[in-house]
Amino acid sequence: MMFKSLLTALCVQLSLGSYYIHGEVKSDFKGEGNDLVHHTNWMRHEIMDNNGLYWLQWWVIAKDNDVYFEVTVNTRGYIGLGFSKDGRMPNSDMVLVWVDDSTGQPNALDCHGAQNLTNRVPLLDDTQNYYVLDGFQNATHTNVKFKRKIETCDPYDIPFSTDTLKILWSFGDMDPNYESLKGHGKNRGVKSLHLLSPKFTQNSRDPYTRKIKNSEISIWDITVNNITVEPTMDTLYWCKIVRLPEFSNKQHIIGYEALLSHFGHLNSNIVHQMTLFECQTKSYPGSDPLSWDLWVRSSGTVCNSNLLTPRDWDSCSTPVAVWSPGSQGQFLPSHAGIPIGGVSGVKYYMLEIHYDNSNKKKMRFSSCGSFRISNTLHTQIAYL
Ligand SMILES: *[C@@H]1O[C@H](CO)[C@@H](O)[C@H](O)[C@H]1NC(C)=O
Ligand SMILES: *[C@@H]1O[C@H](CO)[C@@H](O)[C@H](O)[C@H]1NC(C)=O
Ligand SMILES: *[C@@H]1O[C@H](CO)[C@@H](O)[C@H](O)[C@H]1NC(C)=O
Repeated sequence: MMFKSLLTALCVQLSLGSYYIHGEVKSDFKGEGNDLVHHTNWMRHEIMDNNGLYWLQWWVIAKDNDVYFEVTVNTRGYIGLGFSKDGRMPNSDMVLVWVDDSTGQPNALDCHGAQNLTNRVPLLDDTQNYYVLDGFQNATHTNVKFKRKIETCDPYDIPFSTDTLKILWSFGDMDPNYESLKGHGKNRGVKSLHLLSPKFTQNSRDPYTRKIKNSEISIWDITVNNITVEPTMDTLYWCKIVRLPEFSNKQHIIGYEALLSHFGHLNSNIVHQMTLFECQTKSYPGSDPLSWDLWVRSSGTVCNSNLLTPRDWDSCSTPVAVWSPGSQGQFLPSHAGIPIGGVSGVKYYMLEIHYDNSNKKKMRFSSCGSFRISNTLHTQIAYL
């Protein structure tokens, strides 16, 4: 076995039950509009660099198939945002935005990375698919809002999908002069993100703790046993199939809580991201529908491995929730919920855990979390 000492206990809990939500639940769910976009009433916010210089926000307006972006960066020069399958500039889809120093006008250039590395300057796309909405700069920062379609139909633009994309970010201290774009030097990086999924956001005024005592929220545990990450692995994606408990009617995931405990190095930030995917349980020649329940009982395996990952797991490709542990309680905005369950609902989910071991240490750990699930679709506020 290739990953012989992948070990440990990781448990994720989902809570089920009634819960009071502020306002109406307005999830735009599958079947309406774009199938890829499950939830539209969210805005995501990521700090792309380690020093808090590059802030990216985005949200999706599913009925128009538009993705809106807002970048706020500590520069008066240009800001680059790129989308790539492999994290490299060649063949990436890029947009350069800036606010003109003399006119104050915000601009966007739709570009792409050249196919080969002899040309490191982004090339201008024939069709411009990024539209500037607004922007300003002050003594220190540039802020630009812009949008594009989820799928632009331009071969130089990467369509946004449920796959993880590598997001390239960069900035420079001068406005671009297209003929001689000044290099971004060290001000660049890459981050993997699911662009089309919401991320749980912390709600500090959390009434869950009280409600759970009244059994209005039940709990679903997902446990992955004994994972060891070897020093030779700087990254590991671990996948585990889980089965949703039986619900006769639709429920909503309204929050998630992760608890991580390490056996070994305590202060490591090793778990990078977790994603819960829906499984369509499509069958392939030779696949056995009974296997799903066997997989539920196993501790999982390495994701996307030709040797180790069952092919049926390819159908677990629609992300329903993404989160970075770190904060111990993360909750959806009070007006939002992620629908799950129901008689004809999806039964199997796949939890993908991304372990980031860039410090190349040997790690064993255990973690536990809990999803909060409500059975009420339209309820009123109960903030205390
Ligand atoms: C976890 O795995 C390690 C080796 O892979 C083993 O020594 C240990 O006993 C296991 N712990 C539990 C709780 O199963
Ligand atoms: C690399 O790209 C440049 C400009 O795009 C082009 O002129 C050159 O022929 C390319 N080289 C190869 C080996 O494809
Ligand atoms: C410039 O804009 C940034 C981003 O909006 C803001 O954080 C900063 O406080 C502003 N600086 C000044 C001097 O107004």
